[in-house]
Amino acid sequence: MSKIAIITGAARGIGLEIAKRFNKEGYHAVILDINATELAKCEENLKEQKGFSFFNCDVSNHQSVIEVFTQITNQYPAIHALVNNAGIAIFKPAEEVSFEDWSAVMSVNLNGTFLCSQACLPALVAGQGSIVNIASISGVRASTLRIAYGTSKAAIMHLTKQQAVEYGNKGVRVNAVAPGPVETEMARLVHSADIRTSYADAIPLARYGTTEEIANTVYFLCSPQATYINGQIICADGGFDAAGVGLPSLRGSLNSPDGGLELSNSVINN
Ligand SMILES: NC(=O)c1ccc[n+]([C@@H]2O[C@H](COP(=O)([O-])OP(=O)(O)OC[C@H]3O[C@@H](n4cnc5c(N)ncnc54)[C@H](O)[C@@H]3O)[C@@H](O)[C@H]2O)c1
Repeated sequence: MSKIAIITGAARGIGLEIAKRFNKEGYHAVILDINATELAKCEENLKEQKGFSFFNCDVSNHQSVIEVFTQITNQYPAIHALVNNAGIAIFKPAEEVSFEDWSAVMSVNLNGTFLCSQACLPALVAGQGSIVNIASISGVRASTLRIAYGTSKAAIMHLTKQQAVEYGNKGVRVNAVAPGPVETEMARLVHSADIRTSYADAIPLARYGTTEEIANTVYFLCSPQATYINGQIICADGGFDAAGVGLPSLRGSLNSPDGGLELSNSVINN
């Protein structure tokens, strides 16, 4: 009998890559998504491959979560991995964020993570499985336009620690991955050309991450290589968080012929 992994928001993007990664490792991957069109497309693309199943689920709707997780766990009473990946982003200046915007982001990102984890817990205990919550670098570093999104992701990181403490007692590990910018539909929608260039400037590895790189990190946290890791937030971000005040102009000077000596001196002299 295969191990079972449930991945929310997995009809496309990072979630789909995570589902494929678990499948490649021999897991049966259960894909949940709210978008019926994307879900049907995903099912069609994977129809030749064994080891996937598909459920329409709105992770922000308690009833929908209860119904879908009951159906899944009736079929698979032991679950080995739950990845809370479903998320939405509304990027607006703080004063333009309506309460509806705020509530929508919190409902999917934060409530969805809470609801799915709670609904899955008995089956995770039965499988001695593990949870990975998908946060974001926007929950680690504050930035413009992300008052709802960034706050929801910061809350997911604390929720991860709360879950790690209580679920850990039952043998269920809980960790989070905070990706930097990753090339997906969501990124294409909300990242303008300007934003792309600025990210490349601000990230030491000078590029977006790939969905495969995030899936590798998530799989590692659920794997036998990570059995003593619990309550941790792993930033898969090309060094973005570590860079802190690493101003692009100062970093650029490292590549100058004098190794930035002239600029460093002028900074010291000023
Ligand atoms: N792409 C990035 O740059 C980036 C960076 C950091 C974090 N993330 C996080 O990674 C996760 C995946 O992002 P992505 O870029 O693949 O996004 P995406 O928009 O391509 O995919 C998200 C999926 O979640 C589904 N979804 C949305 N609301 C849902 C709901 N209520 N119930 C069930 N499914 C729902 C969507 O239909 C979609 O298929 C999100 O949590 C996002 O916040 C993404």
